[in-house]
Amino acid sequence: MTTSETGNPEIDNKTNLPDEPDRRQFIEKATCVVAGAGIVAATWPFISSMNPASNVLSKSTVEVDISKIQSGETKTVEWQSKPVFIYHRPQTQISAMQNSKGSDIDPQADEERVQNPEWLVVIGLCTHLGCVPTKKSEGWFCPCHGSRYDNSGRVLRGPAPKNLYLLPYQFVSAEKLLLGKA
Ligand code: FES
Repeated sequence: MTTSETGNPEIDNKTNLPDEPDRRQFIEKATCVVAGAGIVAATWPFISSMNPASNVLSKSTVEVDISKIQSGETKTVEWQSKPVFIYHRPQTQISAMQNSKGSDIDPQADEERVQNPEWLVVIGLCTHLGCVPTKKSEGWFCPCHGSRYDNSGRVLRGPAPKNLYLLPYQFVSAEKLLLGKA
């Protein structure tokens, strides 16, 4: 190591010069990181407010105990402010529904409408103008304008233009349904 006129090692006089650009870059990067963190902190309450509240999330799915619904009985529950019919179909009706496509108004195979042939799960609103149909032995009857549906919820007679609407659901167990989640 050589020594300068001041008596200090030469390297001392030069130490700062090569470091200047590195230090500037470091300060710039640090400023960016701090600014980014500040933006995230400032906007987080806003972003967080856009997520659905936990009570809204819980209402988007409804768990239903189906263990007490006897064969031939319908249980009506509310899901997303709509009635949902959960119909425990008797064996005698299942094969009849499986052998039919419904009517020409909205033909559909029964197997496309049920996950388990014993259980029909449909939105309980007439697809004409939204009245609540009443259960009959052959299916459902809408008292508003006389539409009829079979035990697969398929429209047999108008003015309803569509079958009773399906909804996402899953069997959590043999005795529990979760509505609102496929
Ligand atoms: S609302 Fe059901 S037939 Fe019109």
